[in-house]
Amino acid sequence: MKPFLKWAGNKYSILERIAVKLPSGQRLIEPFVGSGAVFLNTSFRENLLADNNPDLIFLYRTLQEEGQNFIDYCRSFFDEEHNEETIYYQLRETFNTTEDCRLKAALFLYLNRHGYNGLCRYNAKGIFNTPFGRYKKPYFPAKEMLSFHQKSKSALFICADFAETMGQAQSGDVVYCDPPYVPLSPTSNFTSYSTGGFGELQQIQLATLAEELAMKGIPVLLSNHDTPFVRTTYAAAKLNSFDVQRYISCRGSNRNKAKEVLALFKKKRKRKDA
Ligand SMILES: C[S@@+](CC[C@H](N)C(=O)[O-])C[C@H]1O[C@@H](n2cnc3c(N)ncnc32)[C@H](O)[C@@H]1O
Repeated sequence: MKPFLKWAGNKYSILERIAVKLPSGQRLIEPFVGSGAVFLNTSFRENLLADNNPDLIFLYRTLQEEGQNFIDYCRSFFDEEHNEETIYYQLRETFNTTEDCRLKAALFLYLNRHGYNGLCRYNAKGIFNTPFGRYKKPYFPAKEMLSFHQKSKSALFICADFAETMGQAQSGDVVYCDPPYVPLSPTSNFTSYSTGGFGELQQIQLATLAEELAMKGIPVLLSNHDTPFVRTTYAAAKLNSFDVQRYISCRGSNRNKAKEVLALFKKKRKRKDA
């Protein structure tokens, strides 16, 4: 199942690698759900899905509650008339100022599909500021939205910081964390999914929480770039490192390879004495 949103760092292309490493359990917890690629392609009985971007979570809740009605409403923004630069900037302004939550949710999808590269970028004041994308005919993801709606019957969506979400984990849960990655170089740190950054302190706090949950018998799988900092911070985990193709330009001409890790924090079983 493909996510219906374009989302930087989405895990659609490495789902199989994740599926192999993800332990089984009753409930999946994703503290950084993003486009939901992992949730959509796993089959846990329950799912606790969180992100600190309130616009994203409100869109998911609206689609979960309304299904086809909301899909039809969103479709009304996908035509030639709305694919114009001036209209885009008017609707972006409406998105940033409206108090109509349903309209805001529909516009979040409109901006995601009509904005530059599907970027979700806010300024320091929390104003969404991604420029117009100039696409010929932006795709309306009707069938992906319907699949998401159906799958969301097993989900609870919350807007929360990762520490709060991880604090809700209980025995029988499995946690998959896909945080904003540590930068590969000092100039390459894109972390504009929402206001507020995600620096070294948060990376360390996340690894510490993962270790604490693992000690309680709740396994945590984490994704990140494979860097010396990550290897030190994830020292308590079992690491699986692999190459991924990164597209760092919307034209697709600017590609390079980066190494990623999947780090599994899991309580070690005690060996029985002979
Ligand atoms: C790499 S993306 C997750 C991508 C997702 N796995 C997917 O397949 O689409 C990271 C996500 O973390 C969210 N995020 C950033 N800082 C956060 C925080 N402090 N607490 C919770 N979520 C956060 C961002 O809004 C973004 O959606």
